Amino acid sequence: MSSLAQPLIDWHKIHGRHHLPWQRNADPYAIWLSEIMLQQTQVSTVIPYYLRFMQEFPGVDHLAQAPLDSVLALWSGLGYYSRARNLHRTAQILRQDHRSQFPSKRIDLEKLPGIGRSTAAAIAVFAFGRREAILDGNVKRILARYFGITGYPAEKSTQNKLWQLSEQSLPTHADQGRIQSYTQALMDLGATVCLRRNPVCTTCPLHSDCTAHKNNLTHLLPAPKPRKPMPEKEAILLFLVQQQKLLLRKRPSPGIWGGLWCPPEIAVDTNALTYCQQQFGMRIQSTLKLPAMDHQFTHYKLRIYPMILHVTTPTTSSDDQQVWLEPSMAIHQGIPAPVKKLLNQNFIVADNHAMQMDSHE
Ligand code: ADE
Repeated sequence: MSSLAQPLIDWHKIHGRHHLPWQRNADPYAIWLSEIMLQQTQVSTVIPYYLRFMQEFPGVDHLAQAPLDSVLALWSGLGYYSRARNLHRTAQILRQDHRSQFPSKRIDLEKLPGIGRSTAAAIAVFAFGRREAILDGNVKRILARYFGITGYPAEKSTQNKLWQLSEQSLPTHADQGRIQSYTQALMDLGATVCLRRNPVCTTCPLHSDCTAHKNNLTHLLPAPKPRKPMPEKEAILLFLVQQQKLLLRKRPSPGIWGGLWCPPEIAVDTNALTYCQQQFGMRIQSTLKLPAMDHQFTHYKLRIYPMILHVTTPTTSSDDQQVWLEPSMAIHQGIPAPVKKLLNQNFIVADNHAMQMDSHE
């Protein structure tokens, strides 16, 4: 016997849910319907839908013979409508091939539309008293915390490990309703105590042996979905310098950095000298490539390749979208953070240095 089962069964006697409508008897049809409804929906939402559905379609034959539209109508508002279509399809298969009876083995239940391994196991347990392990979202959370499983539960290897633990944790004897109490206890503990956020560990019958609780890790387990790597973009920023002034242009709005003042930006496959010639009629005396700088936006990373270009031709006149400013003035304008950083690193320090040199003269 695992150390999980007995405390859970004891806890369930006092704190578990014993009067849910589908617990009135072990009718496989009622249990199947409730398990399908409960797949993505919580108990309190399911109850009125379940009661209406049972009244309208009290058994496999009623459901199998009903038009799909009337099944979908009763499902309306519950969401995930493929569940209703699979329910209808399963009723028809049972009527045609199984004399309207549910198979009692988990492995056979799994062959029916809409019944995955965990749902098949739950039906096999509640309707037929079979000794089967479940692994729904709640149970994954309980086991990941209890055993300290750190992988992301939807990942194959972690899922395999959790299935193994769920099987190993089953009560050893499937007599006197123990398997039902144990299975219902897991579901109820997950729904009322071992909550995703702010679990109520003080009232949990497992807390003294729970790895996550003992190590203060409940908020980190189960591991959240790994984030996708951020897309990366890149651009060249042209720091055009003429008589110690820099060219800044107002960025179009909307758009990134819309309305902020920024050095001209070009794509990485654009030739900077040709661009300056064509766009501004500038001739460039010298160029200096600065080290790349990464800037993190919410949804992507921008790799900036800054270039300093000394312009020999006279500055073109400023208009309201374009100014020539000294770096020490520019940093006080509305400019993007990485531009400010680049100015501070590459222009302002040099200016200070120059000023200090000046003051010593
Ligand atoms: N979630 C899935 N199956 C359930 C059940 N039988 N009772 C409570 N919650 C559940």
